[in-house]
Amino acid sequence: MPPHTALGTATARAEGPDKLSGAARYAADHTPPGCAYALPVPATVPHGRVTAVDTAAALRLPGVLAVLTPYDAPRLGPSDDATLQVLQDTAVPHRGWYVALAIADTPEGARAAAEAVRVAYAAEPHEVLLREDHPDARTPEEAGGFPGHRERGDPDAALAAAPVRIERTYTVPPLHNHPMEPHAATALWDAATGRLTVYDSSQGAGTVRTALASLFDLPAEHVTVVSEHVGGGFGCKGTPRPHVVLAVMAARHTGRPVKLVLPRRHLAATVGHRAPTRQRIGLGARRDGTLTAYTHTATTHTSRVGEFVEPAAVPGRVMYAVPDSRTTHRVVPLDVPTPSWMRAPGEASGMYALETAMDELADELGMDPIELRIRNEPEHEPDSGRPFSSRHFVECLREGAERFGWAALRTPRRDGPLLSGVGVAAATYPVWVAPSSARAHARPDGSYLVEIAATDLGTGARTVLAQVAADTLGVPLASVTAAIGSSDLPDAPLAGGSAGTASWGWAVHDACTALAAALARHRGPLPPEGLSASADTTEQAKQKPPYARHAFGAHFAEVRVDTVTGEVRVRRMLGVYAAGRILNPTTARSQFVGGMIMGLGMALTEHSSLDPVHGDFVECDLASYHVPVHADVPEIEAHWIDEDDPHLNPPGGKGIGEIGIVGAAAAIGNAVSHATGRRWRELPLTPDRVL
Ligand code: MOS
Repeated sequence: MPPHTALGTATARAEGPDKLSGAARYAADHTPPGCAYALPVPATVPHGRVTAVDTAAALRLPGVLAVLTPYDAPRLGPSDDATLQVLQDTAVPHRGWYVALAIADTPEGARAAAEAVRVAYAAEPHEVLLREDHPDARTPEEAGGFPGHRERGDPDAALAAAPVRIERTYTVPPLHNHPMEPHAATALWDAATGRLTVYDSSQGAGTVRTALASLFDLPAEHVTVVSEHVGGGFGCKGTPRPHVVLAVMAARHTGRPVKLVLPRRHLAATVGHRAPTRQRIGLGARRDGTLTAYTHTATTHTSRVGEFVEPAAVPGRVMYAVPDSRTTHRVVPLDVPTPSWMRAPGEASGMYALETAMDELADELGMDPIELRIRNEPEHEPDSGRPFSSRHFVECLREGAERFGWAALRTPRRDGPLLSGVGVAAATYPVWVAPSSARAHARPDGSYLVEIAATDLGTGARTVLAQVAADTLGVPLASVTAAIGSSDLPDAPLAGGSAGTASWGWAVHDACTALAAALARHRGPLPPEGLSASADTTEQAKQKPPYARHAFGAHFAEVRVDTVTGEVRVRRMLGVYAAGRILNPTTARSQFVGGMIMGLGMALTEHSSLDPVHGDFVECDLASYHVPVHADVPEIEAHWIDEDDPHLNPPGGKGIGEIGIVGAAAAIGNAVSHATGRRWRELPLTPDRVL
């Protein structure tokens, strides 16, 4: 057998040339013959009911095919997610909720018709601003799938008795995913065969297929969802969204293929957001820095449509050794759009708060913040007592400090009006794996094909899966193609939870192992159809390991604060990660750096605000929602510690899609405090706050 060289090799994305040349087609790039266009109409009141929809003016416009309303839209079947039950009743749970759908021959016609629809409402009082003392605040059973409340020992007594103690509140505003490609779907309904084909911008074609089959009462095998290329998601394409339901509704109603592209201005209210959090943290310690108490209460909002609780207090359960602790959530239902997944849900917000609090405690103790963290390194996962499959957090801190030049930079500097400082923070993200299946083929010409309904959001998944296959088969990478991005391929979970490569890679590994065995048994030349093997990891992936499995990392940032303008500029960022085996350094570095840039945005520029009068998000475009641009992004380094963790999955990775954002904002905020000697506890650190 040739040496296994594919995994761990820096390899460019397989679809790179297609993307650069425009040959790669995204959901909205499909325009079937006879294609019509749909555009939904958002509610203009924040709470209440639709009392009438006047479609006459819209229907008189040229090329308008139909206007669907809550009164006449087709009835949908059940869905787990209530945000998909669009146009099913007259209730308006939040501003931006869809109340009509215009369908026309052209995109311009659909837009004109949508604007001509007249909707009358009975408005009711609304409330969109989060308050910690809200009478409806309650502790949820679950936060993001984790227990809403965990407690060990007597944290209040321990905090009261602690020789050194801090109690602080940190505020993270609502944030929006805003991927480059807005949500879009092109739906083809074939009335003759009863088959539905949908090109959707989604993180998981299989997830969308399951939802559509239920909503439109179709056998799943009559539904094909294609998500071949996706222009980012960060969680807001992790579940099916209303646009795809409306596109299918329109196609079925008109008998024409229908394309629906959401305007970016619709995204803020219809495809989820990171819910705002107010996080109260208490840390108690002995004078030597040993933690004795930790309390963390994260208060957040949810909508009236469905409950989603941002699990911000969860990551604190894995970080530091502390005998008495309480990590809990409070949720308040408001008349707001439904929050949802956004890159490192829970960790991104929660580790901003915890890691800023750790920095404040280090200040209070007069201790180096790296030393404080090392002193509180746990032997086992604090919350569960389970051993870590691997951790290496201290190694990340030490290597990062060395590479960054931490020791030499710990004296804050002033250069005229410019103050410079450095900060550090921890990163953590859990290791997930979901059941998957895959198929592998060997062709007589010596080439190989692996098939799996995986999704590549731009992460390099397609490339890495081919690497896993080449490595398992012991063949050159150039001989392997990975076919992904369609629900007709072997079932696979969505690209989410930083678990894609682990979940899909396991199934590809198993299918290729089976294929290699079949090839070894085979005598003579391969038949024209080649040889195939399949695998399904349901049994393996569902096993609960006796280990706590998490990736860890350490972020370092150097900032310069302009005392005249209040502007914070990040000069340098550096991350060191312990994330299992790094399967492709090229695509992995992009994931880490992309996460760090998103953390930079969280620290300095990104925020959404709910307008208390009109009830909607004020920032609805990229002119007002400020993601970092090139001029904001400094030199960024991502490094990793090679981990050989046998308790993960055959490819050996821990998942890298989300950890880059976790703690990055805290490292920057801590650097700002180091530079200025002042502390801000509300993100983002915009000039008006910092001045
Ligand atoms: Mo991610 S927020 O699991 O797509």
